[in-house]
Amino acid sequence: MQTGKLNGKVALVTGASSGIGEATALVLAAEGARVVITARRMQRLNDLAERIRQSGGEAIAIEADVTNEEQISGVVRRVLQDLGQIDMLLCVAGVGVAAPFENTVTAEYRSMIDVNFLGLLYPIHAALPSMKERGAGHIVIVSSGTGRYIHPSVVYSGTKHAASAMAESLRREIGRDGVRVTCIEPGAVKTEFVSHMRADVRQSVEQRLGDMVQLESEDVANAILYAVTQPPRVNVNILTLYPTQQA
Ligand SMILES: NC(=O)c1ccc[n+]([C@@H]2O[C@H](COP(=O)([O-])OP(=O)(O)OC[C@H]3O[C@@H](n4cnc5c(N)ncnc54)[C@H](OP(=O)(O)O)[C@@H]3O)[C@@H](O)[C@H]2O)c1
Repeated sequence: MQTGKLNGKVALVTGASSGIGEATALVLAAEGARVVITARRMQRLNDLAERIRQSGGEAIAIEADVTNEEQISGVVRRVLQDLGQIDMLLCVAGVGVAAPFENTVTAEYRSMIDVNFLGLLYPIHAALPSMKERGAGHIVIVSSGTGRYIHPSVVYSGTKHAASAMAESLRREIGRDGVRVTCIEPGAVKTEFVSHMRADVRQSVEQRLGDMVQLESEDVANAILYAVTQPPRVNVNILTLYPTQQA
């Protein structure tokens, strides 16, 4: 049941064109937030924005690559100019190639570092001054279970450990300014994430996952909703959620 808990709030979601980001945009919009959705695949974003509007919500789609500082800080500037504030910044965009390190090519590990780490820092750095000035705001970072526990994948795990460490360090730095930071650490989620890996890696990951029942994107989106709807005095620091069957 929707209760309008986020009426009047503005949420900026990176990685909103599929999976967890898409589900998060839908869940936040259903609770009344005005959602700004961003990623590179504009058609997907336009379709999602249309779905949100048809269900009575508000959505604005903006194309941006999170590894391009100018583009993503341009999105932040535009949202502040047009909507006046960013109450929630949801950093969901991410990529992963779960291959052994010696079988990972430079372009793959550069891409993981660029998207999973720099792609967090750029939008946060751009949005933070306005949140501190208002004394309110919430930054949600989607890391991974592999950012806390070691799963096989050297670079992906490294970037997600960096994301989780950064989230907690940032929380300690800006909590006194009234800005909250939440780190979300899911285990395996059924999205198109694995389909973006190269064929040999994809096959080995699919083999490892087998017939395990994975989380749905909505499960993670609902965890995010829980964190962002707590009273301002409550900072949900870390939420780790795994499929029941995942070791
Ligand atoms: N699926 C899992 O098992 C799992 C588990 C734990 C954590 N996670 C994390 O959850 C997050 C979302 O993943 P997902 O499972 O929902 O996968 P997904 O469906 O593949 O979504 C990834 C999103 O990231 C965006 N993205 C990738 N590169 C980008 C770039 N350079 N600039 C802007 N956006 C970019 C994609 O949009 P475009 O391609 O349109 O740009 C897409 O919207 C990631 O951070 C991932 O590491 C996933």
